[in-house]
Amino acid sequence: MVKILGIETSCDETGVAIVEDARIILSEKLSSSVDMQKKYGGVVPELASRVHTEKIIPLIESAVNEAGAKLAEIDAIAVASGPGLVGALLVGAMTAKTMAMVLGVKLVGVNHLEGHVLSAFLPNDDLSKQQLVKYDFSNNGPILILIVSGGHTELVLMEDFGVYQTIGETIDDAAGEAFDKAAKILNLPYPGGPSIAKAAESINESKRDDSEQFSLPRPMLDSGDFNFSFSGLKTALLYKARKRNLDDERVVASFADEFQEAVTDVLVKKTVAAAREYNIERVAMVGGVAANRVLRQKLEIQFGDQFFVPEFKYCTDNGVKITVAGYYKYKKGGLISWQELSVRGNWGLG
Ligand code: KG4
Ligand code: ZN
Repeated sequence: MVKILGIETSCDETGVAIVEDARIILSEKLSSSVDMQKKYGGVVPELASRVHTEKIIPLIESAVNEAGAKLAEIDAIAVASGPGLVGALLVGAMTAKTMAMVLGVKLVGVNHLEGHVLSAFLPNDDLSKQQLVKYDFSNNGPILILIVSGGHTELVLMEDFGVYQTIGETIDDAAGEAFDKAAKILNLPYPGGPSIAKAAESINESKRDDSEQFSLPRPMLDSGDFNFSFSGLKTALLYKARKRNLDDERVVASFADEFQEAVTDVLVKKTVAAAREYNIERVAMVGGVAANRVLRQKLEIQFGDQFFVPEFKYCTDNGVKITVAGYYKYKKGGLISWQELSVRGNWGLG
């Protein structure tokens, strides 16, 4: 049995977990600077790094205690080493290097996006799905993965662990970024995804204003490829919202609802088209925006029990996904020494 301690500090979440054989979560700890970032309307990189520096050691200490393990029992340390904010990544990387040196163990540098991908294979409430996946990536043919986070929007074909082909991506803003910017326009709090979803939920069908004044475009639907663009959608919202009274909750709710519909329509249609083009049955969605209920429902309607999505708490950044991805990379010979680990602010999946 292999015990891995994993560390996540790519953005504004400090995550630590200890997982045995990628299956048994012995402990998981998470702390977020999101409440502090709220007053700036987005993530301030310097603030994120400072908070990671304060939190990381206490979180590791409590993760080790809760796991009932001793540091000496840890077989390897996995750390998210990119993509992300370099200053934030460095806090996790330096902590991992120091621990590896002192404990005399090896490291695994995990791609943050690969961590998100693995979150679709974590134990899930839905047992039938869990059995279907069974941590066996390749046996049932490739899986199409829709990665939708604050920094990325990609459609990726996963042949096996570590074997990815990106077939489409955003040419400007990521889906989460679009939600965050739209929320700012509507004077809703950061992070934008949950606040737009909440505002949209606050009106029911009968009260919804579907008139032209609120309608927004569905960008790139007919672009003939699997790329996305969300920046024009945000600008369209900006121009329409300027003309309206944003103190009126119904106005904000109607815009929030239409914005959520526009983003999710595009994501779903492109995913369906990609699955058809590549003849793929199994589809997974991961990343912070995967927590969006409307998007989950729309994809579930399309792909039924061949659709895989993490539990809500594993959609946004956390230590468990890094630890589990670290395990598979470890199995594939991905161990390195502390001297070899470096961080990469831009690191694609392939
Ligand atoms: O994966 P994540 O935690 O961090 C990155 O790797 O970027 O994703 C954060 C993003 C934010 O942009 C946030 O607004 C979005 O995920 N998000 C949502 C929801 N919850 C979080 N977007 C739409 N609907 C949600 N319920
Ligand atoms: Zn993330």
